[in-house]
Amino acid sequence: MSAALDTAISHVTAPDAERRTPHHRRFLMCRPDHFEVTYAINPWMQPDRPTDTARAVAQWQELHDLYVALGHDVELIEPVRGLPDMVYTANGGLVVDGRAYLPRCLYPERAGEAAAFADWFRGNGYDTVEPTHVNEGEGDFLLVGDTILAGTGFRSTPESHREVAELFEREVVSLTLIDARFYHLDMAIAVLDSERGEIAYLPSAFDAASRAVLEERYPDAIVVSDEDGAVFGLNCVSDGYHVILPRSAHEFARQLRERGFQPIPVDLSELLLGGGGIKCCTLELRGSEVSPSGPRV
Ligand code: ARG
Repeated sequence: MSAALDTAISHVTAPDAERRTPHHRRFLMCRPDHFEVTYAINPWMQPDRPTDTARAVAQWQELHDLYVALGHDVELIEPVRGLPDMVYTANGGLVVDGRAYLPRCLYPERAGEAAAFADWFRGNGYDTVEPTHVNEGEGDFLLVGDTILAGTGFRSTPESHREVAELFEREVVSLTLIDARFYHLDMAIAVLDSERGEIAYLPSAFDAASRAVLEERYPDAIVVSDEDGAVFGLNCVSDGYHVILPRSAHEFARQLRERGFQPIPVDLSELLLGGGGIKCCTLELRGSEVSPSGPRV
C-alpha cells in the first residue's frame, strides 16, 4: 500500500463519513518520461529553471499507484518525445458517454498532442469528435451532475462551450477566469461529488458575474482560500469519498474532512513547474463500458 494511502487511512474518519461512498473511476494518464520545461505558456513555467524528470516520474508514479490502490482503473497513453505537456492528460479531451471531444490547444507547442490522444481514443473504442474551436479538454470542462461547467478567459473559447453543449446535449455553464495563474477551470473548481452536485471553488479566480452564478447554483460549495488555491489545492481528484489533493493545501483538507470526505495528500511539486497538478495529470474516461470489441455490459 502506498505511504499516502496509509497515512490517509490512519486519519480519524469524520462523523458523517459513512454517508459518502467512493465511486469507481476510469482514468487516462501519461507517464512524464519526457517531462521538461522548454517553453513558457503559463506563469508557472520557467524554462531557465532545471527540472528533474526522474523526480517527476516518481511523483507521478505515486499518484498512479494511489488510484490503483483505491480500486480505480488507470489506462496509459504512451508519452511522445518533444511533447512534455502530454503528462497533463486532462487536456487530452472531454470524454462523456464514451465519446471523446478532442482538444485544440491554444499554443502551437501543444498542438501535436491532439493526434496522439485521438489515436489512443480510437484504438480503445471511443468515438472521437474533431473540434472546430480552441478548447483544452477537461482542463476547462467539468461535469457536475448533468451540467458541464466550462471555463474561458485564457484557453478554451466560448464557441467551444457551445460546441460541447450541442455535442453532449447537456447544459453548459460558461465561467470566466480572470487570474492568469489559474488559466484552466480545473485549477479554480474541484468536483467533489458529481452526482450530488458538490463542488469546491476559488472565488478570486472568477469575474463577478461568474462568481454570482457559482454562489447561486452551489450555495453549499466549499469556498477555498487564496492560500490553498495558490498551491493548486483545487486541482484535486475526488471519487466521491477520497479526495487526492496537494500536500500543502492544509485548510482545504480540513474543510473536506469536516464534510465527511477523506483527503489524501500527495506531492506533485515537480509537475507544478509545468503549471499542472493532480487533476491536470488525470483525464476521466466516462462511458467505460466501451471497449474495442463493443460495449461490455
Ligand atoms: N503546461 C501546461 C499548459 O500550460 C499545463 C497544463 C495544465 N493542465 C490543466 N488541466 N490545468 O498548457
